[in-house]
Amino acid sequence: METLFSGIQPSGVPTIGNYIGALKQFTEIQDEYDCYFCIVDQHAITVPQDKAVLRKNIRSLAALYLASGLDPEKVTLFIQSEVPAHAQAGWMLTTISSIGELERMTQYKDKAKDRKEGILAGLLTYPPLMAADILLYGTNIVPVGEDQKQHLELARDLAERFNARYNDIFTIPEIRMPKVGGRIMSLQEPTKKMSKSDSNTKGFISLLDPPNTVAKKIKSAVTDSDGIVKYDKENKPGISNLLSIYSIFTSKPIAELEAMYEGKGYGDFKSDLADVMVEFIMPFQEKYEYYMNSEELDRILDEGAEKARKKSFKMLKKMENAMGLGRKRK
Ligand code: AQP
Repeated sequence: METLFSGIQPSGVPTIGNYIGALKQFTEIQDEYDCYFCIVDQHAITVPQDKAVLRKNIRSLAALYLASGLDPEKVTLFIQSEVPAHAQAGWMLTTISSIGELERMTQYKDKAKDRKEGILAGLLTYPPLMAADILLYGTNIVPVGEDQKQHLELARDLAERFNARYNDIFTIPEIRMPKVGGRIMSLQEPTKKMSKSDSNTKGFISLLDPPNTVAKKIKSAVTDSDGIVKYDKENKPGISNLLSIYSIFTSKPIAELEAMYEGKGYGDFKSDLADVMVEFIMPFQEKYEYYMNSEELDRILDEGAEKARKKSFKMLKKMENAMGLGRKRK
């Protein structure tokens, strides 16, 4: 069976963008692969985090993974900082990364631009840590949203470089992106990606927003003024984004939705979409509450960390041997 790895940062409460780009994909393919799902808390600290909030977000993210439908009997769910090989392998891969290639990462450029009080070095060097996360498990496939494509290409480059320079130990991972919804946009600025850390909370729907807030956010989403429900990403980014969301949550093709709303205005469309979202979010949040309040959650995370430690340690030793670190052991 091939191996799948993916992670989400506990840098806030995941949005429906994270759900569509990541969580939903995970549940759809969990039976086909040996799956490792990670709460990448060491990535989250590349921007300053409040300690208490971070702790809460880590556990909450674990419950959200499970509420999305991951089966803990099948998949390995764990917290990155509880598996030391990630930081160790991340450092090794940092030493074969060039500053130039890291500075070319668009996510670094975007996040660095917003930092007024100095850019933290970790923001620049986090892609090699992400490469380590993936490569430690001999990963064949990484399901992510479109924004992570560049980081994944870097992970592939680093794997090929390591294999050529030291020893051929890494599998070169493939990216898997959703057919629709690889990049869900902000509800307030539909040319900008929806992000859980956006300071404008109206721009995203968090998976833990109360149902009435979800409905309000959909109804106040920015659209154009011509009132025609038609997918046109260039000229009508707002309604196109809402059409993608509607299509994903109902499994109806976009063309069918366009036909359904022909001659009707944005009001009807948004009101129906709000109902669709509320119908999704209510049972989802019930499952979330169940896991948050059960001891099962910590047991699942303990077992996940144990399994991930065993598997990653083997690859870490291969990496150290290949690079000539420490003493040679038989
Ligand atoms: N808007 C999006 N549409 C589709 N997929 C998305 N993803 C993120 N935003 C969208 C996918 O969600 C997964 C987890 O992302 P992450 O937490 O590792 O970091 P991110 O990509 O930086 O996500 P955010 O929400 O924008 O977080 P912050 O605000 O902390 O930077 C990835 O698979 C990502 O592609």
